[in-house]
Amino acid sequence: MGLSYYRRFRMEIDFKEVVLPDAMLPDGYSCIAWNGHLADRHALVKYESFKTEIDSKVFRCLSELQGCQRLINDIATQKHFLPETTWLVTHCPNGGTEYQDCATIQGVRQNSVMGAIQNVGVIPEHRGMGLGRAVVLLSLQGFRQAGMRRVYLEVTAQNKAAVSLYRSLGFRLTRTMYKASDFD
Ligand SMILES: CC(C)(COP(=O)(O)OP(=O)(O)OC[C@H]1O[C@@H](n2cnc3c(N)ncnc32)[C@H](O)[C@@H]1OP(=O)(O)O)[C@@H](O)C(=O)NCCC(=O)NCCS
Repeated sequence: MGLSYYRRFRMEIDFKEVVLPDAMLPDGYSCIAWNGHLADRHALVKYESFKTEIDSKVFRCLSELQGCQRLINDIATQKHFLPETTWLVTHCPNGGTEYQDCATIQGVRQNSVMGAIQNVGVIPEHRGMGLGRAVVLLSLQGFRQAGMRRVYLEVTAQNKAAVSLYRSLGFRLTRTMYKASDFD
């Protein structure tokens, strides 16, 4: 099996250069703040969001449910984890009791002023309705509350939807790098 190289962007947002709107969720959707009991729900949404996407080729863990469970546990148990940047969005139409989790995001502290968004995922059936934008905005509010001045993330260059989402919020390209992957 040969190696594939994926071009990746590091993108950064500086809170003093942007005015961020409040996060808006469509009717029937609500956001749930981090709680350790939600780990498996975050992992399932992450898996459903990434399993058929380019990043599941770049990072093996994203192509498997167990990999996503390990990833969430690794993020949430590290000392730089920022719970206030970590959100789950659930869909509960017509105020009923049935719900479907549909978006996830996590964040960590990189240093005293810089935060890092870990993984933004919206499951395919709920895309294009503003959930991706809403979870990134919720997370950015959390970084701000935690005293961060800037936030960065990394994204695979060919992931046009994600790059466009981050650009539209004010993230700017700060570095291009290549990630080798040896599986398909
Ligand atoms: C990237 C992702 C999170 C976007 O979620 P979403 O809920 O569909 O995005 P939104 O509806 O909030 O769209 C916000 C903006 O993103 C951009 N965008 C979203 N989908 C797009 C698409 N298919 N093509 C181009 N731009 C797109 C647009 O700028 C859009 O703004 P607009 O609606 O004003 O045009 C989602 O596609 C996803 O989960 N992808 C798979 C997982 C992944 O790759 N995550 C990113 C890892 S870095």
